[in-house]
Amino acid sequence: MQITVTVNDQPYTREVEPRLLLVHFLRDELGLTGTHWGCDTSNCGACVVQIDAVPVKSCTMLAVMADGHHVTTVEGLEKNGELDPVQKGFTECHGLQCGFCTPGMMLTARWLLDNNPDPDESEIREAISGQLCRCTGYENIVRSVRWAAEHTCTPEVSA
Ligand code: FES
Ligand code: FES
Repeated sequence: MQITVTVNDQPYTREVEPRLLLVHFLRDELGLTGTHWGCDTSNCGACVVQIDAVPVKSCTMLAVMADGHHVTTVEGLEKNGELDPVQKGFTECHGLQCGFCTPGMMLTARWLLDNNPDPDESEIREAISGQLCRCTGYENIVRSVRWAAEHTCTPEVSA
């Protein structure tokens, strides 16, 4: 089947097998290997991307289901050479160790901050509750998201 998916603001048209999962489309067809594939059971959340600005486990979706939609992967978080505050927060607060869970965590964090710019610890923990980290114990991930919340410039309102 032919599909056109906009990924990180760039449209891609490809012929794909109807059974191809979105995670494999992103990694193997488009070479966007920042989206990780960590399980066969839809449990780990390493594969989280945003579909139309909502976090989704890309191993639970077929690529054909993304036809006509906008996908954001970790490669799309940086804008004009500037890291997203979430990326800076993970750097500043040591929010990763092996980094395997990190892209998915960052995309969920970005969604959370877009919808709740000042989340408390329990709201952050709830947002990432569908994603596993085997290294950090989550504490530094929470601190990283809080850092991003505290260092995000809100656009000035023109008079
Ligand atoms: S790869 Fe584990 S939830 Fe998608
Ligand atoms: S940093 Fe290793 S799994 Fe999260």
